[in-house]
Amino acid sequence: MIFTVGGIKGGSGKSTIATNLTIWLSKQGFDVLLVDADEQETATKFTKWRERVTDGNSGYTATILTGDAVRQQVLKFKSKFDHIVIDTGGRDTTSQRAALFVSDVYIVPFNPRSFDLWTIADVENLVKEVRSIKPKELYAFSILNRADPKGSDNKDSAELLRESEVIKHIGPVIVGRKSFANTASNGLSVIEGNPVDEKAVHEISLLFSKIMSEIDVNFNVKNDV
Ligand SMILES: Nc1ncnc2c1ncn2[C@@H]1O[C@H](COP(=O)(O)OP(=O)(O)OP(=O)(O)O)[C@@H](O)[C@H]1O
Ligand SMILES: [Mg+2]
Repeated sequence: MIFTVGGIKGGSGKSTIATNLTIWLSKQGFDVLLVDADEQETATKFTKWRERVTDGNSGYTATILTGDAVRQQVLKFKSKFDHIVIDTGGRDTTSQRAALFVSDVYIVPFNPRSFDLWTIADVENLVKEVRSIKPKELYAFSILNRADPKGSDNKDSAELLRESEVIKHIGPVIVGRKSFANTASNGLSVIEGNPVDEKAVHEISLLFSKIMSEIDVNFNVKNDV
């Protein structure tokens, strides 16, 4: 599977989700390639740090690609890995389009704030545009990240995201927790935290499992037809 984590908004948690997904998949025994398609190179900096703290055993392969090279190179890498995760920037839609063109799954994190949620129409247009020219199906999921631990904002935001007929909203919400930032700054995923943040691990594992089962279900349905 080729996953792109993207969106049009900066700071929504794309790199956090992309690096956590990469490590989550690699912990399940998959051979994973993490592609950094963001010129800020957050995923690359994370991986460099991780290589140091793990004595070179980061558990996955990483590379940097931009622009149309994302499409060309990912197609070449496709048969060599079980899964590919592409981390994109919030602004560079050239790289993001190239990534989506070769992707099976698009994961778009949103923060439960109006400025973030207003970008959904632009993301929908991007998905529609890519779907219209793409030979294979593109599954698109919105998720809520850095959500509030309590209050009604999460529910209101989820309802708004659920209205989309282009991008499917999927839970659980990922609550804003220090453990995400703390583990990332140590080159770790939240599932590797010490001490482990059980709530964060539960949320992220459940979210990733649900995305995988959504894809399986849809793929089975597709295969049956
Ligand atoms: N669930 C979370 N809880 C707490 N902090 C979070 C969470 N998700 C992301 N963050 C923090 O928010 C900041 C932005 O996250 P991240 O770098 O993943 O966003 P991004 O969408 O990749 O940003 P950019 O658009 O700049 O690439 C980081 O400091 C990260 O540690
Ligand atoms: Mg990023």
